[in-house]
Amino acid sequence: MRITILGSAAGGGFPQWNCNCRNCAGVRSGSVNAKPRTQSSIFVQPDGGHEGVLFNASPDILEQIRSHGALQPARALRDTAIAGVVLMDGQIDHATGLLMLRERNGKLPLWCTDPVEEDLSQGLPVLRVLSHYCGVERHRITLDGGWFSVPGVADLRFQALPLSSKAAPYSPHREQPVAGDNIGITLHDQRSGKSAFYAPGLGDITPAVFEAMRSADAVLVDGTFWTDDEMPKLGISSKHAREIGHLPQSGPGGMIEWMAQLPATTQRHLIHINNTNPILDEDSPERAILTRADIHVCEDRMTLKL
Ligand code: MLT
Ligand code: MN
Ligand code: ZN
Repeated sequence: MRITILGSAAGGGFPQWNCNCRNCAGVRSGSVNAKPRTQSSIFVQPDGGHEGVLFNASPDILEQIRSHGALQPARALRDTAIAGVVLMDGQIDHATGLLMLRERNGKLPLWCTDPVEEDLSQGLPVLRVLSHYCGVERHRITLDGGWFSVPGVADLRFQALPLSSKAAPYSPHREQPVAGDNIGITLHDQRSGKSAFYAPGLGDITPAVFEAMRSADAVLVDGTFWTDDEMPKLGISSKHAREIGHLPQSGPGGMIEWMAQLPATTQRHLIHINNTNPILDEDSPERAILTRADIHVCEDRMTLKL
């Protein structure tokens, strides 16, 4: 399979429109060695196939489609390579791009859990709005370990894992999490036998999450924050990383420690990186720590072949 990183930034993107933190100001002026990034999404295709699955629909989807020819195969007057969309949660950065797909011919095939369907019908009623345009053909993602596939996308199958993270602020379960608010997905290519674990928002590595990471050939996991107090320390927000469902990379119990316990052959990638994270600066000491630990920081337009 081919995994294309459409967007490697967290909500807000990089640089964020209203932010003048060191990273955002520095990438604008060129004084920081960093690459701009769009918001969180990947596109997954089987080898040799046109059609693929979009994981998350970011507010930057139109720009992402324009900069990736593979998403517009141009086989007909109206065409797309997006055979279906799978949502990891109902947050703005992962779901509002659905509105940009409203001109689709026929209902948009959409896979999500029940709590996400609820959030997107109530707190942020994207699905109700879309029913006035192309409409959605919704498929339920269950949390029983079952595999699902997307019609038109041969050889690939997917398995969801509930994560302890956080629902969006407009969700009725923001403070009372329910299973399925956030999921991670194992992507398995039945032809190559390879798999990847994708979890852009991950608050805690439970035994089940570590097992999913350990079993995969590549992990693409939460790279939002370097430290728990990254935003409070910068005076940007009072929100701590763990409080909003993101495991920081550094420190005891952080993502770097967990990744060190993976098999030596596992490809380690961080994705969904917040604009405040010092790892965005390619010359930073924090980036050097990741490089030494063989941990890669995802960039937009990067492709992984598995
Ligand atoms: C998150 O994952 O916490 C989000 O990126 C927040 C947001 O989109 O505002
Ligand atoms: Mn997010
Ligand atoms: Zn910033």
